[in-house]
Amino acid sequence: EAYNVAIAGATGAVGETFLNILEQRNFPINTLKLYASKRSKGKQVTFKGTTYTIEELTEDSFKDIDIALFSAGGAQSKKYAPFAVKAGAVVVDNSSAFRLDPEVPLVVPEVNPEDVVWHNGIISNPNCTTIIMLVALKPLHDYSRVKQVFVSTYQSASGAGAQAMEELKQQVRDWAAGRDLSVNKFTHQLLYNVIPHIDTFQDNGYTGEEMKMFNETKKILHDDEVRVSATCVRIPVLYSHSESVTVMTEEPISPEKARELFNNAPGLKVNDNPDGCEYPMPLGSQFQDDCYVGRIRENIAAENALNFWISGDQIRKGAALNAIQIAELLVKNAQKANPALKDVSGF
Ligand code: A2P
Repeated sequence: EAYNVAIAGATGAVGETFLNILEQRNFPINTLKLYASKRSKGKQVTFKGTTYTIEELTEDSFKDIDIALFSAGGAQSKKYAPFAVKAGAVVVDNSSAFRLDPEVPLVVPEVNPEDVVWHNGIISNPNCTTIIMLVALKPLHDYSRVKQVFVSTYQSASGAGAQAMEELKQQVRDWAAGRDLSVNKFTHQLLYNVIPHIDTFQDNGYTGEEMKMFNETKKILHDDEVRVSATCVRIPVLYSHSESVTVMTEEPISPEKARELFNNAPGLKVNDNPDGCEYPMPLGSQFQDDCYVGRIRENIAAENALNFWISGDQIRKGAALNAIQIAELLVKNAQKANPALKDVSGF
């Protein structure tokens, strides 16, 4: 069976990676429709050797579409996802628009694949830093319940979109040429700097990004008791987010045990050889499907606490790959339930 797939936001950082991953994983596509804003109308892109023309996203974009992958920002998801659902498509939405809606599953396939089955037409893809952290927390949580997490993030420019990545590259060129640097997408100059401010500040002093890690972790782990305190920081790196994580569990987990659990977990690779100067870094994890974990050690300041460092390509595992893995689960479930039917909407 093959499916009619639409991409909303096909020209963005995540949108382009959707195409790359659909091709790489040979997702069963019948027809493919690519949508972006009016600005991009008429642009051409190549997919599996065929040229496709970008069309403007409208309310009528989803006729006969089975699966709609959305990454055009929250406002566009809110506006257009309901039309996709009405047209009979299942939406996998990369924005934060529906993530905490109790009617909408929030899925990391390595963590809670079972949640894809109860959707009502929309499945949300979690926040990128949350996905990367949870790929590592899940095997620990299964062994001994995770109670509290303290995390600081080191997030790349591409997490703010294609134009933000371009802003960092332009700052490099302007700096080298002795020109003034322009700042537009970030709140300050990112080159030669780090910015502890992602998303908007809330009344409690945390940012929106930090509260996403708090709220989404509870929903994905189905555990309202787990508490995450995050500090999210933008760094002048192009691809991949890294995170310094301290996790406190019900029972202690030794570094040896953690290494074994990580080694057996899907979507994770252990890279932890400090003597050989080997540990995960963005230049190693970028463009990779797996997340890399290292610096695994006992936390010497708290009880039942373990430290690790993780780095993952947030455009791939943190966004496009995770969404396509969700689409693959839909297809698998639909085919299991009724091999003669290609309809994914009931699952
Ligand atoms: P466009 O390139 O035409 O602006 P990123 O996250 O990398 O910034 O990408 C955002 C994606 O969302 C792009 O594909 C962008 O298209 C698309 N987009 C932004 N605004 C709209 C809109 N009003 N309607 C449809 N697509 C939009």
